[in-house]
Amino acid sequence: MNKPKLILAGGSGFLGKELTRHFDALGWEVVVFTRRPSQAGAGAREVVWDGETIGDWTRELEGAAAVVNLSGRSVDCRYTPANRRIIIDSRVKPTRILGEAIARCERPSPVWLNASSATIYRHTFGTPWDESGTDFTPTPAVHDEFSLEVIHAWENAFNNAMTPQTRKIALRTTLVLGHARNSVFPVLCRLARFGLGGRMGSGNQFVSWLHQADFCRAVEWLIAHDDIRGPVNLATPNPLPNRDMMRLFRELVGAPIGLPATEWMLEIGAFFLRTETELILKSRRVVPGKLLASGFEFQFSAMRDALHDLTKGA
Ligand SMILES: NC(=O)c1ccc[n+]([C@@H]2O[C@H](COP(=O)([O-])OP(=O)(O)OC[C@H]3O[C@@H](n4cnc5c(N)ncnc54)[C@H](OP(=O)(O)O)[C@@H]3O)[C@@H](O)[C@H]2O)c1
Repeated sequence: MNKPKLILAGGSGFLGKELTRHFDALGWEVVVFTRRPSQAGAGAREVVWDGETIGDWTRELEGAAAVVNLSGRSVDCRYTPANRRIIIDSRVKPTRILGEAIARCERPSPVWLNASSATIYRHTFGTPWDESGTDFTPTPAVHDEFSLEVIHAWENAFNNAMTPQTRKIALRTTLVLGHARNSVFPVLCRLARFGLGGRMGSGNQFVSWLHQADFCRAVEWLIAHDDIRGPVNLATPNPLPNRDMMRLFRELVGAPIGLPATEWMLEIGAFFLRTETELILKSRRVVPGKLLASGFEFQFSAMRDALHDLTKGA
């Protein structure tokens, strides 16, 4: 019997490699669309695309069991005009061209999951946002205007794709904790070891998160449950304030103290690290309404357990 085929567009990065491992172990055929082959994880076959124009890669979509699009330049950089353009284009163009290619298929995939971000919800210390939340107002104090512009353009490109035979899910993903260099887990472990693992800013801002294993399990769940569609929050039910998260990191690495970082220190640090303080200061209190309602169970719903597990595999 033929193996079910998973298409991972932009699947050569952190989340793509995790999904490759997960679905390869389940016995799926994994095909990664990449601009630069030989970066994808073992277990995947690479197919070259440019993320912008129709090409030979479109043949791979025929009869695929699922398509997951993860394409997008990292947002962990200074938001210069040039970087802003790349951040938007690297998400909108691959989404548009995939939609066009799926629409041309004779046997289109029954399901298409497209990356998005839980940062779409308004900065809040109050009631957590599930998918029924529609308040996407930016908060100038945490500089999230540009992120919201990106996510709207990204989700609009996805929603506008005319693929009537294909169920669509926007993955409103929160912070995924994993081993990859660009995951925050190794970065925060290092800061904590150097005695810099104190609260960031007020420390009251909420952090929503999930373990890389639960990210993969949730994607598998969403592919299998054909009654789920539209935006889905990928987050554990337990967001926690930044000060509590940093305490868990200090505990993990055995650091007795952690210097707090005030907002002005973060601004200076972000400038030298070529990143933006919004990634730290926005209060993201987001919960997985649809996953829980459909019966999904998290393997790691307490951050302490997730961190200990990741230390084992590091
Ligand atoms: N990691 C998280 O915690 C998190 C949280 C929320 C949302 N997300 C979103 O989930 C997606 C995947 O995250 P990740 O952590 O796996 O990111 P990643 O490691 O940076 O990988 C992203 C992939 O996007 C592709 N890409 C970059 N620029 C592109 C362009 N101009 N055109 C086409 N493809 C391009 C790259 O593939 P090639 O170079 O091989 O073409 C790269 O492997 C991203 O869109 C991210 O914004 C991630």
